[in-house]
Amino acid sequence: MTTDAANSNLFRDYIGAIFNGVKFTDVPINPKVRFDFILAFVIDYTTATEPPTPTNGQFNIFWQNSVLTADAVAAIKQSNPNVRVAVSLGGATVNNNPVFFNITSVDSWVDNAVSSLTAIVRQYHLDGIDIDYESFQADPATFAVCIGRLVTTLKRNGVIKFASIAPYDNADVQRHYQALWASYGSVIDYVNFQFYAYSASTTEAQYVGHFNDQIVNYPGGNILASFTTAPTTTSVTINVSLSACQTLQSQGKLYGIFIWAADHSRSQGFRYDTQAQALLANAAGY
Ligand SMILES: *[C@@H]1O[C@H](CO)[C@@H](O)[C@H](O)[C@H]1NC(C)=O
Ligand SMILES: *[C@@H]1O[C@H](CO)[C@@H](O)[C@H](O)[C@H]1NC(C)=O
Repeated sequence: MTTDAANSNLFRDYIGAIFNGVKFTDVPINPKVRFDFILAFVIDYTTATEPPTPTNGQFNIFWQNSVLTADAVAAIKQSNPNVRVAVSLGGATVNNNPVFFNITSVDSWVDNAVSSLTAIVRQYHLDGIDIDYESFQADPATFAVCIGRLVTTLKRNGVIKFASIAPYDNADVQRHYQALWASYGSVIDYVNFQFYAYSASTTEAQYVGHFNDQIVNYPGGNILASFTTAPTTTSVTINVSLSACQTLQSQGKLYGIFIWAADHSRSQGFRYDTQAQALLANAAGY
């Protein structure tokens, strides 16, 4: 990829991990942005054991699919032509235990992941996947070849149209995702960098500095700014994040914004989801 970062209007909201009944139709959707819902999560673990154990690429559904059903996906896309729906792989925990990227072999993991994800994507009318493993039993080269082959195969088979990765600033995490980027960056459409993993004392200037660091770490990538609406006191504040987004847009670097998570935003009347979309709707050319 050789393009320079540029402003665009992609807004993305994770949804469904908290099991509080949040629906697609609860979330305000600005027609002037491109809007992705990202279902959280599918995980290659089973809860048939306690603690849950890895299933070597056999993905199971862990989002609230009693509310966020296949029919609900079809309906939100039907009524909003700017909406796509993706699903995120992994996440931090399963039943309060860490989720590890933990495979038996590359070939068997890729085969199992391709078949289980193809079934889920088709059943739920999904458009893309997001990669959010945060703990690793495999080395970076193994992670890179597994995820790279998975995304390449799903795209080649016409199962998905786009893929994103969701790293954050932790040495082990960055090693794994940068190895993936080095070999397979050309099939990764967006980098959902978790800027909310930085501390609550982060200033706007520091946020912009961290963003510039990721432009170097993921060269040519479409990097999204982000914040969390979870009730936390340990993350970058929302207002600092939104100010940084304005600065990045004024510098022509704001490709998009994502929020963790619609489930939490509901109790705030989605005011920050609305604000973030309004900012992106300003992006030149849209
Ligand atoms: C990886 O999976 C194997 C097989 O289920 C298990 O024995 C091992 O403890 C797992 N490693 C981690 C770090 O969870
Ligand atoms: C952000 O700033 C506005 C005023 O500009 C204030 O009303 C709001 O409470 C702040 N939000 C947070 C999360 O600090």
